Amino acid sequence: MAVDDDPEVLRAVERDLMAEGGELKVRTKLEPATVMIEIRDNGAGIPPEVQPRIFEPFYTTKGVGEGTGLGLDTVYRIVRRYHGDIRLESKPGDTCFQVRLPLDIKE
Ligand SMILES: Nc1ncnc2c1ncn2[C@@H]1O[C@H](COP(=O)(O)OP(=O)(O)OP(=O)(O)O)[C@@H](O)[C@H]1O
Ligand SMILES: [Mg+2]
Repeated sequence: MAVDDDPEVLRAVERDLMAEGGELKVRTKLEPATVMIEIRDNGAGIPPEVQPRIFEPFYTTKGVGEGTGLGLDTVYRIVRRYHGDIRLESKPGDTCFQVRLPLDIKE
């Protein structure tokens, strides 16, 4: 998947990550019963004390008028809706989100 397939995604990525130059890697993998989507960047990273809060609605470290804090809340809801899970590992220069969605969705 190319990020520039979707102009909205591209704009958000440029604003959030690429403005100062950076790399975003998206990788997908088919596992036995799940699809795994990995989104990795080489930005500043998410400090350990911030990590527990990033999925809270309206939690943002961006300035007033810059971020809603709803990005990851929305991601989390969608992933939960499909009975998936999301994992985060982050240190300065390497942040990696892994989303896993079961292929056999039970409504
Ligand atoms: N890849 C990342 N690298 C560094 N910090 C991140 C990353 N992803 C999320 N964060 C941190 O988590 C916080 C919450 O993220 P979230 O996407 O929910 O809101 P936001 O990005 O601040 O606002 P919006 O999504 O509306 O632009 C961010 O403010 C930032 O501190
Ligand atoms: Mg966001």
